Amino acid sequence: MANEKRRFEVKPVERRTFLRYGLIGAVGAGLGGFGLASLGFLYPRPGDQLFGEVPLGNAQELIDEIEAERAPMRIPGSVLSIQVWDTSNSSAMSLYGDDHAVIEGTDLGLMALDSQNCPHLGCGVPWCQSSQWFECPCHGSRYNRYGEWTGGPAPRGLDRYASFVDDDGQFVVNFSEFLTGPARTANALEQSPEGPSCVDA
Ligand code: FES
Repeated sequence: MANEKRRFEVKPVERRTFLRYGLIGAVGAGLGGFGLASLGFLYPRPGDQLFGEVPLGNAQELIDEIEAERAPMRIPGSVLSIQVWDTSNSSAMSLYGDDHAVIEGTDLGLMALDSQNCPHLGCGVPWCQSSQWFECPCHGSRYNRYGEWTGGPAPRGLDRYASFVDDDGQFVVNFSEFLTGPARTANALEQSPEGPSCVDA
């Protein structure tokens, strides 16, 4: 009976032992959180589900629709907003001509902007129809139609993906070729806001 009593005796946890396990738990939780955060960088972001070269439609038809709407085309299941650019603009051509789609025989091209990850802290950057700019609601960074930085804390313009027009006239985005956004000094478009802003500065 005495033995049985001893078997079920629960020793009080010493304060030092309690603190040691508490510390191990806290470090473990911290490392776990860090690991999960790191995985976020290794794996695609939510909504970024396209890979490799993906045809998104007839280039001329895309241009017609974007120009009619006066708004970039959002591509569902991706981070992309497709925008038209003027290939007769020599500044734009020198900045974007190598890796953004150019439509032969016209003065127009298409660019595949990442409008879902603001280069400041990663917020989605909606299109503002009245100003004709992309405007970030989080801290007020703004970008013109070409995704060039025009104001706010973001360190550069909108990131983007390489694109081209294939032999069948399809606009193709290469999701394997990520392009860091243009420097703050890039201002090929020189576009002033065309109306009221959608977010407070
Ligand atoms: S996340 Fe866009 S301005 Fe901060």
